[in-house]
Amino acid sequence: MKSPRESWTSRIAFILAAAGSAVGLGNIWRFPYVVGTNGGAAFVLIFLVIVLIIGYPLMVTEITLGRETNKNPIGTFKALAPDMPWWLIGAMGVLAGFVILSFYSVVSGWGIAYFFKTLDGSLASGADYEGVFFDHVESPIAPLVWHFIFMTMTVAIVGLGIVKGIGRAVKYLMPVLFILIVFLVIRGVTLSGASEGLAFYLSPDFSQITWRSWLDAAGQAFFSLSLGMGAIITYGSYLGKKDDVPSSAGWIVGLDVFIALLAGLAIFPAVFALGFAETEGPGLAFITLPAVFAEMPFGMFFGGVFFLFFSVAALTSALSLLEVVVSWLVDEKAMSRKKATIYVGLGIFILGIPASLSMGAVSLNVFGMSFFNFLDFLQETILLPVGGLLTIIFAGYVFKANRLRESANENATLFSLGKWFEYLIKYVTPVALIIILIVGFLL
Ligand code: PFF
Repeated sequence: MKSPRESWTSRIAFILAAAGSAVGLGNIWRFPYVVGTNGGAAFVLIFLVIVLIIGYPLMVTEITLGRETNKNPIGTFKALAPDMPWWLIGAMGVLAGFVILSFYSVVSGWGIAYFFKTLDGSLASGADYEGVFFDHVESPIAPLVWHFIFMTMTVAIVGLGIVKGIGRAVKYLMPVLFILIVFLVIRGVTLSGASEGLAFYLSPDFSQITWRSWLDAAGQAFFSLSLGMGAIITYGSYLGKKDDVPSSAGWIVGLDVFIALLAGLAIFPAVFALGFAETEGPGLAFITLPAVFAEMPFGMFFGGVFFLFFSVAALTSALSLLEVVVSWLVDEKAMSRKKATIYVGLGIFILGIPASLSMGAVSLNVFGMSFFNFLDFLQETILLPVGGLLTIIFAGYVFKANRLRESANENATLFSLGKWFEYLIKYVTPVALIIILIVGFLL
């Protein structure tokens, strides 16, 4: 007999899990380098605008749709619009969970490997940081071993379910995460010479902003907030009607943005104080930062703390990516959770193999990009933004904006959403997204 569907033990458990999904490599690895390559503080401001007009409304929408149906993303759209093809949004989400986790786990594995590298001295002062990074990511075996270990941890937790697995893991891991980042920020801003980095990060220069920056900000917001692929629908589906939506969504968005800002605050002052370039790109966390740590007093200790933070944040996000696919198999295909988790975990591990190897061990190109970059490109430019746009259109026009607002407001605690919310999801959010997507691609 099929066991009844689980639900979160408390509202806090849900907020921690969803914030755990949101706070991840997107905040620590991606946000600082996207800010760095887009000119700093001005980009941070447009990111905040995007979060307000696209991120928050979509967060409310996804939680509400999940809470409404208590189903996985495909099941949610099927239940709300039977006989119509809207379930394809959910199918795109399941695909996105599979695709994103495959390369996400590879990068998370680099993070764990780097944690150990801070301990064994390979990142000590004077090391060839670029060499260490490329040697690691281009080697055929080591990154795959860490990828396997990371996927095994993810599978073990998701296999235990919502209450005993995900809920319990985030209860312990999220406070740890918070303590680690505060520690890193204090270290960063108290370095002598930190002020130049703070200025780059905090005083805007709008001449650096282009249309492309808006597209980058939108891509960053979707990824960072875990939106556009049903992860939040899935987590929302384990809520009951008695649980609040508007302020929970506020907490999740707020915590995610706060941690991204703190990650920048931990990183930029240190990068500038020690005379490194802020525009390093994806290597920022793995090439520039270890060099920065090596020059700091007790640097290897702080380096270790940083990569521990990195790996824990990645793990709580990976749980939600896997849960999207697993919840679909459990709800719709009546598979047992254990079986679904192991099969999907194995499938994702296998897809991660070519992603990892394409970093240099073998030459594996798709449309002129390495397979790794192709998967990232697929999620950033297609799966998440298109998924998010279709979800908001569905909510505003098929499910109907007034019904969504009423449903979201049911049992709201701190505040309820006013009529403005309907205008937001019917006009402002979709139009802003369409303009950003069209113009961003054309220019
Ligand atoms: N939000 C995660 C991060 O910032 O690293 C990544 C992510 C998790 C994206 C879950 C999408 C998702 F559904």
